[in-house]
Amino acid sequence: MSSTTDASAGRAQISERTLRTDRWWLPPLANFIGLTLWVAYATVRAFMQEWYYVEQYNYLTPFYSPCVSTGCIEEAAHFGRFLPDVWWLPYAALTLPFLLLFRLTCYYYRKAYYRAFWLSPPACAVAEPHQRYTGETRFPLLGQNLHRYFFYAAAIISVINTWDAILAFRTAEGGFGLGLGNLILLANVILLWAYTISCHSCRSIIGGRLNHFSKHPVRYKLWLQVSKLNTKHMQLAWTTLATLAITDFYIMAVAAGWISDLRIVG
Ligand code: FES
Repeated sequence: MSSTTDASAGRAQISERTLRTDRWWLPPLANFIGLTLWVAYATVRAFMQEWYYVEQYNYLTPFYSPCVSTGCIEEAAHFGRFLPDVWWLPYAALTLPFLLLFRLTCYYYRKAYYRAFWLSPPACAVAEPHQRYTGETRFPLLGQNLHRYFFYAAAIISVINTWDAILAFRTAEGGFGLGLGNLILLANVILLWAYTISCHSCRSIIGGRLNHFSKHPVRYKLWLQVSKLNTKHMQLAWTTLATLAITDFYIMAVAAGWISDLRIVG
């Protein structure tokens, strides 16, 4: 479509908002509730500045990783402490904005929140309330094109999360330890990698700009694997929101003394 006017002129002149008779409003409503609850929880936790680290078992919640504020517990700060300790700056303020932008510009989440929050459109074959449609051709939505760069940042942060999960196998006394917290941290980081690798940008970085797959057999094989994972991107997007919240809540509960970690070794 060449312009907004052309797009509007092409629309069918049907007075009903939709001819759909199924419960088309259910997915956007579920997304609205799910995303709102998650963002509320994550915001509260990011600014709480306590119960983020279990010193005895080296458990650090991903919401505070890497912990780089001067307010961080020394043992939790695996990459140094240099950000000022003020209430309005999360302890992981160095990386949280990139993770937020990675998810905000994600192809799947865009679909979810355009439908759930902006009703643009709320569902297939349901007219949107807005009069004009400019797509992602103008600021600020033009910035959605930066997704590929946030993917690189998210991949680096996944390496940091992996390092945290490995360090958590070492107890405060320096020995090997294994508890339910380790299993939760491990499952979370594996799923975070699956979500990150299943990214559409990752798929095009690996398999894009090639004229002949036959001349790049390794990239072709990797592209096939990423493509398989890519079909599960939506499920991974939601699963990782759940595992992030569960991991954070479990570590908060142990750090606060509400529950004890279920220990298997150490
Ligand atoms: Fe969803 Fe890249 S498309 S993370």
